[in-house]
Amino acid sequence: VQTACLDGVLLPAQDAVIPVSDPGLLRGDGVFEVMRLYGGAPFAPEHHLERMARSAQNLGLALDLDAIERDVRALLAVAEAGEALLRVLATRGGHRIVLVEELPKLPQALALGYVTFAPVRVLDGVKSLSYAANMHAMRLARERGFDDALLVTPHGRVLELPTASLFWARGGEVFTPPLSDHILDSITRRIVLEHSGAHELATTAAELAGAEEVFAVSSVYEVIAVGRIEERELPAARPIFEALAAKVRARIESDLARGWGG
Ligand SMILES: Cc1ncc(COP(=O)(O)O)c(C=O)c1O
Repeated sequence: VQTACLDGVLLPAQDAVIPVSDPGLLRGDGVFEVMRLYGGAPFAPEHHLERMARSAQNLGLALDLDAIERDVRALLAVAEAGEALLRVLATRGGHRIVLVEELPKLPQALALGYVTFAPVRVLDGVKSLSYAANMHAMRLARERGFDDALLVTPHGRVLELPTASLFWARGGEVFTPPLSDHILDSITRRIVLEHSGAHELATTAAELAGAEEVFAVSSVYEVIAVGRIEERELPAARPIFEALAAKVRARIESDLARGWGG
């Protein structure tokens, strides 16, 4: 039986229930984070909790960050999680939810299909619970036979994936769309920026066609290659991706070895 933590109480996940009147359910009004667990330990928990606090502040949501950290530590202490994901939610109704989830099976390389998408401006800087648009974009791409969506604005600018950030390489240089395009300030994106010296560059789908390598990054994916965008196969040789994936993996291992202080 999977264990959850609801408002500080550990209980079987199927018994963790909140009132149906919670605006977190009714309106997707709330914030969340997903961390990856390695041998049961979270990577970059401080960064995720910090972003959650920022999301809540930008959404005008009261958040007891210390209580959330206690909940996370309490759940991890009993969960025997191994390789998994940790989902943390705070709802407008005032509920704190922490869940351990299975790590999804990840393909070797992603096939991406374009889905037109306009980020909601007032949710800039908020990782909100309102993810139906992201989930629907992913489904639309999957219905067309792709693994995931590559979100592109009505004006043709590439943004990100529904749950990951985008990087691409050309002529030995690495690029990623800027946060000013209303994408998520991804924690993995920040790490990859630091290790790659990537440039932030507003990019059109037409420009992306000139990329020699494309990859996606997220807490769940770490760094994952993109093998195809629509009908275009990308080269199988991915030296920049390989080097960065190894660097990020080493960074994760060294951070995990230091442990989560507190
Ligand atoms: C829209 C979006 N972009 C990017 C990411 C990757 O963010 P992180 O690296 O913090 O996991 C996510 C994560 O869920 C996301 O939802």
